[in-house]
Amino acid sequence: MKPIQRNILLNPGPATTTDTVKYAQVVPDICPREKEFQEVMDGIRADLVKIVNGGDDYTSVLFGGSGTSGMEATLASVVAYDSQVLLLINGAYGQRMLQITETYDIPTVVYNVEWGTAIDWSEVDAMCANNPDIGYIAMVHHETTTGILNPLGPFLEIARKYDLVTMVDTISSYAGIPIDLQGTPVDFLMSTSNKCIQGMAGLAFIICRNEVLKQLKDVPGRTVYLDLYKQYEYFERTGQMRFTPPVQVVYALRQAIDEYLDEGIQNRWERYSTSYQVLTQGLEEMGFRFLLGGDVEHSRILMTIYEPDDPNYDFTELHDRLYERGFTIYPGKVSDKETFRLSVLGAIDQNDIREFLRNLREVLREMNIEVKYTRF
Ligand SMILES: Cc1ncc(COP(=O)(O)O)c(C=O)c1O
Repeated sequence: MKPIQRNILLNPGPATTTDTVKYAQVVPDICPREKEFQEVMDGIRADLVKIVNGGDDYTSVLFGGSGTSGMEATLASVVAYDSQVLLLINGAYGQRMLQITETYDIPTVVYNVEWGTAIDWSEVDAMCANNPDIGYIAMVHHETTTGILNPLGPFLEIARKYDLVTMVDTISSYAGIPIDLQGTPVDFLMSTSNKCIQGMAGLAFIICRNEVLKQLKDVPGRTVYLDLYKQYEYFERTGQMRFTPPVQVVYALRQAIDEYLDEGIQNRWERYSTSYQVLTQGLEEMGFRFLLGGDVEHSRILMTIYEPDDPNYDFTELHDRLYERGFTIYPGKVSDKETFRLSVLGAIDQNDIREFLRNLREVLREMNIEVKYTRF
């Protein structure tokens, strides 16, 4: 197997992948309606449930598309026409959920806090207590906008108290942060093939609690392609997707899942966590400061870093110089703050992070940048 040039992607997915995952896409042509391909899909569906310990209570449904298609399939298919969904928003991906519900004209109630700020669960509780029409609640687990982790425990406590159906975007946490659906039984978890599971971009998947999924049978669909129940029903009946799947991406996901199961959830989490720690320490030593403080829970997968005040600093130039050296850094997403982001998800480890820090130091020197802040 000829090694492929290895780029260290510090953007939060699509991530650096192993060569074995890349090469898994090189397969003989096959019609996805063949039994052989259905068996691959069957295995993937079962393993996606296993990764979050769903047991027999859960199933998984895949769509060809990026993570957003999974969010859209869930929100547009799950929420009943005569009910309301409460969206908890503290970042751009929570905001995207709102964009979806507005587009589909789904009755929505919004709990908004400043991006990067923790959700105040007593306020969410009060909103539910005051509005009996709320039947659904949704949030983003790891809000990749900032790196904040919105905890599943209090979210589920409120859902249980008010008997709400739960939907969680775990697009940038699934397979990176351990999730145990036996302990935290979210009804619908959305994710994608190209983040912590370390496959290629092109598949979205939703882990669904059977009992709730089956109730969608009689809910008229709002979308043709992204109809969650119809896709599930077709998978169950035929073992196939309703529409053409990204065949080679499916093979890459098969390989990525095998590599995930070999590594184990705890080891993957520790690998990410160690990289995060090394990165945090290295940046702190250089003088960098971070958006999130000690008062909120960190994903330990992504961090938002304040840009230094030095007049020589220019993100594009910093990016381009690091890119030439094989490292990709990512711009910030919090509009009123000057930040950039770094993520440790993907097939990288602490040694890559140390190499990155060494290169960053050199580039800062080349650009004559002093990491200092006058605005704090
Ligand atoms: C938490 C979260 N939700 C949704 C998305 C959207 O995924 P995609 O860009 O694959 O559509 C992302 C992408 O980074 C994300 O991090």
